[in-house]
Amino acid sequence: MIWRPFTQEKIAPPPVKIIRGDGAYLISKNGDRYLDMISSWFVNAHGHSHLEIAEAIYEQAKTLEHVIFTKFSHDPAEKLVNGLKLLLPPTLNKYFFSDNGSTSVEIAAKMAYQYFKNIGEKNRNIFLSLDGGYHGDTFGAMSLSGVDSIYHSTFSQLFFKTVTIDVPEYYDGVEDIEQKETEIIERLDRTLTDLGDKICALVVEPLLQGAFGMRLYRTQFLERLVNKVREYGTLIIFDEVMTGFYRTGKMFAMNHTNVLPDFICLSKALSGGFLPLALTITSEKVYDAFLSDDKSKAFLHGHSYTANPIACAAACKSLEIFGKKETVAKIEEIVKFHKSHDIPKALKRRSIGIITAFDVSSEEEANFITDRAWENGIFIRPLGKTLYLFPPYCVRNDDLVRTYDVINKYL
Ligand SMILES: Cc1ncc(COP(=O)(O)O)c(C=O)c1O
Repeated sequence: MIWRPFTQEKIAPPPVKIIRGDGAYLISKNGDRYLDMISSWFVNAHGHSHLEIAEAIYEQAKTLEHVIFTKFSHDPAEKLVNGLKLLLPPTLNKYFFSDNGSTSVEIAAKMAYQYFKNIGEKNRNIFLSLDGGYHGDTFGAMSLSGVDSIYHSTFSQLFFKTVTIDVPEYYDGVEDIEQKETEIIERLDRTLTDLGDKICALVVEPLLQGAFGMRLYRTQFLERLVNKVREYGTLIIFDEVMTGFYRTGKMFAMNHTNVLPDFICLSKALSGGFLPLALTITSEKVYDAFLSDDKSKAFLHGHSYTANPIACAAACKSLEIFGKKETVAKIEEIVKFHKSHDIPKALKRRSIGIITAFDVSSEEEANFITDRAWENGIFIRPLGKTLYLFPPYCVRNDDLVRTYDVINKYL
């Protein structure tokens, strides 16, 4: 029997068997069609079973399916790095492959920690993170996420030391946002006066905190935060596992800001949502600190499927699709749609890029709306009392209209 993720198997209904994907739709064994309005956990970018990506995967599988990535390299990995290089700031130029989002963050945290050990700053053992962040389910990623969640609190005694910073939530109609941001930065300043030289890295989901509630905060706050912690020599990790690849309307969330991280973590839409693949990208400064005649100063970390050629081939094709005018035009259409369509009874409505989210009065109400959507062939998944829409970029306008209609009818 299969044991599903994030599922209380005692009460959950049996899974729906999906036999096919078709653009924004999933098709069940019974022939029912479900509009995937959360891109299957923020993964699928260009639509399910996209033919060009499927063909790229087939071609690569016939040529080279996998090879150990220590002694060997291969075209798909090199082509992917060359493609991403054109999209990323030139300071982020060292690419470390792995195969899922949690691990890409885990790797950034380990690199940041070891960086300070390697340069002789041995007391930097504490991380900074944002309250309500989510960075994955491995121990390092959990340590950096919010300990209060039911997903992680069972394990909290095993976490490494992390200081969490409050988040000034931004939504339609929020009041005194600048004041709230200033108070948080002032509190952080006091913490840093005591602990600044013990902090190794700040980890954030830039602008949008996803899995713990689709919470938005302002560019201005992110910039103040980064500039403040930089005063103490701390490294900055941007976890763009969810926000990367146009989810916020720009290629990366960091492109909305005037600050740059020392690490960016990418996964999910990196391969177009087809195969597990992740990257932790860092700077020459960090990389150089690992160069030594002493082998123990190297980054002694790796995974069996590091830089899998088939996953890299999917990612190269996905990047090519992102490069097309039609893709960007479609993304802009979705952004405009959210901006111009009201959900009058929504609480704390917030939208960024192709994502819109809002709260309802209770978890029961969120579940009620989710069930009505399901009956109408629309798949959404609440986060507590938050509902959100996160469509693949191929979603049609009439599907968006239908989704808003169903939400507005039952809310
Ligand atoms: C921002 C962020 N980081 C990390 C992860 C973990 O990624 P994965 O589920 O691939 O381990 C997620 C997953 O939702 C995420 O949203």
